[in-house]
Amino acid sequence: MRSLIIANWKMNPQSLKGAKLLLNSVKRGIRNVKKVEVVICPPFPYLSSFKFPRSTPSSRRKGPGGRQVSSFKIGAQNCFWEKKGAFSGEISPSMLKNLGCKYVIIGHSERRRYLAETDEMINKKIRAALRAKLFPIFCIGENREQRDRGKTFDFLKSQILKGLEKIPKKEIKNIIFAYEPIWAVGTGKPCDFTETQIMGLFIRKTIGKLYTPRLAQKIRILYGGSVNSQNASDYIKEAKMDGLLIGAASLDAKEFVKLIKNLTLK
Ligand code: PGA
Repeated sequence: MRSLIIANWKMNPQSLKGAKLLLNSVKRGIRNVKKVEVVICPPFPYLSSFKFPRSTPSSRRKGPGGRQVSSFKIGAQNCFWEKKGAFSGEISPSMLKNLGCKYVIIGHSERRRYLAETDEMINKKIRAALRAKLFPIFCIGENREQRDRGKTFDFLKSQILKGLEKIPKKEIKNIIFAYEPIWAVGTGKPCDFTETQIMGLFIRKTIGKLYTPRLAQKIRILYGGSVNSQNASDYIKEAKMDGLLIGAASLDAKEFVKLIKNLTLK
């Protein structure tokens, strides 16, 4: 299966012109790349200006990494849990779907931290995204203190259990898990490959117990946190991740193109 590479632009760039420039440079740079599925997640205001093939309900069923017309997709960085109504400032999953989004990042540590998103809110968002036939990218990860106190596994397990509450078996393969240790996000200090692999195995084992081991084999697990063009391919090859969630390195077209190209080298 193709690796899934998600570019999380966060609150950048500051103008549509800048966003289009970045997008076009990346598109040009990876025109002939086939072995990865690249997903750009720009800020909401730019989504409608980005022309991508629309994903239909049937295209979603091909699954992440499945056969697609184009290897370039679009995603959002967040969504609300209600379908419509009096929720000022919020964006519904169906609005994203209607704009052509295929993916939506949910539960990013920055939203948990700055917007006080709880596991319960994240669970509602994941369920709403699934209802709209989007693929949620469910972010989990411990902070430095939890890690130092040896609480990483307990914490991840609790985030997984709460985030997946009331989600039926048939939907689990449509959720993409992103292991993003908070201490590695935006710090230039990535998690090492062996530990990342252990976390990936732990997440799969937890899903296996919660659902079935067979389903656990089908889920996709990404790593995110200070990934760059130098270390990216080791997360795929050594740590056996199914893809990557990339922040800072996705804002520099040259670096991002290099990162993708490095992934496709033998
Ligand atoms: P980073 O961010 O690559 O800048 O560490 C990753 C993320 O927040 O998803």
